[in-house]
Amino acid sequence: MDRIRIRGGRRLSGRIAIGGAKNAALPLMAAAILTDGTLALENTPDLADIATLARLLETLGVRVEREGRVTRLTCASVASTEAPYDLVRKMRASVLVLGPLVARERVARVSLPGGCAIGARPVDLHLKGLEAMGARIELAEGYVEARAPDGLRGAEIVFPFVSVGATENLLMAATLARGTTVLKNAAREPEVEDLANCLVAMGARIEGIGSDHLVVHGTDRLAGATHPILPDRIETGTYAMAAAITGGDVELTGTRIGLLEATVASMREAGISVEPTAEGFRVSRSCLIHGTDVMTEPYPGFATDLQAQMMALLAVAEGASMITETIFENRFMHVPELRRMGANINLHGSSAMVRGVARLTGAPVMATDLRASVSLVIAGLAAAGETMVNRVYHLDRGYERLEAKLAACGADIERLKETA
Ligand code: UD1
Repeated sequence: MDRIRIRGGRRLSGRIAIGGAKNAALPLMAAAILTDGTLALENTPDLADIATLARLLETLGVRVEREGRVTRLTCASVASTEAPYDLVRKMRASVLVLGPLVARERVARVSLPGGCAIGARPVDLHLKGLEAMGARIELAEGYVEARAPDGLRGAEIVFPFVSVGATENLLMAATLARGTTVLKNAAREPEVEDLANCLVAMGARIEGIGSDHLVVHGTDRLAGATHPILPDRIETGTYAMAAAITGGDVELTGTRIGLLEATVASMREAGISVEPTAEGFRVSRSCLIHGTDVMTEPYPGFATDLQAQMMALLAVAEGASMITETIFENRFMHVPELRRMGANINLHGSSAMVRGVARLTGAPVMATDLRASVSLVIAGLAAAGETMVNRVYHLDRGYERLEAKLAACGADIERLKETA
């Protein structure tokens, strides 16, 4: 397995181009199942998760053609309504094919994603919503089987708490249902909005886009469309924190400050300068980092996907910070690894008390999820000595050319290829 070696202490300076959002691209690709036309997605990132979903879609009968940053998906007819375990287990977002398959084919069999490193992550809200729309759901042999022989019908669905994936699955399903579906307490993440806008371009009728109250008037048919994927706010925030921890000065281009207002507010509170530019925004730091409290929340709150990176940054702040995770019950796997690098962090249930230290020290580290892994890279950029990040495949799921982008700004970072 490849590893990434970082020799810390270099200040980052320069520009980093941000790619299309992974978490927008995945549901958008699944939306191709809803039409026999061609869905052309511009600004597609080149990531392992995108390749995994492309493979799954191909087994379902979707033709996937990639040309540079454009991915064209055409599902002239559905060849299979089964999403097999082997592909779903690699990536939980595979469950996003469930809603579109039932909507178009009236039947689907999708492997249950099962447990995952950041908590139980059930899919009960996805299934309850489809049931409310008239599907019969059975769980057998590790698979969800959904059947709606007469087609899905509109329903009023009130989410007990915010779920990005359930909102996306049901939003897609509702576009081809008979009648009107109302989704209350829907996720307002920009990726949900991006999906809704694309569905509208495909001919769907959706009201309330961008709010937590979505009204979908079902239609018989959707058509192909061309849609530019929005910038990746998590990639943006990650590089913002990388720049900040090194006391650097980096312009992030192809992105917008408005996608991560809560993050920017917390970073400014921590003493980091964030200023909009014509192509994105500029992050710089000239004073010490100040401790600041952060709580993850559904959008527009502070993103759980940036919690680990923020913790790395605050690990070298002056003073203490309390970081509270409210979205996932087990999302502190980076804590023991950051501690091995000299961080002073204590866990109390869903909160982490981070007491800033003057300096982290390099160490061999590894993490069990994507964002935890990248937080170790961020820590390594500021640590004294060498940090070796193992299990790089987690990083490749969500960060395109991570080491190249950081090296271009002056980081001493290198991928060591596995030798036989
Ligand atoms: C998406 C993102 C992920 C991000 C998360 C929260 C994608 C591909 N992934 O994941 O990067 O961290 O949003 O912003 O977009 N839950 C249930 N039952 C359900 C569904 C969810 O209990 O049926 C729980 C989850 O376990 C979790 C919380 O709800 O505790 C939020 O999860 P959800 O918003 O659904 O996350 P994902 O869509 O899986």
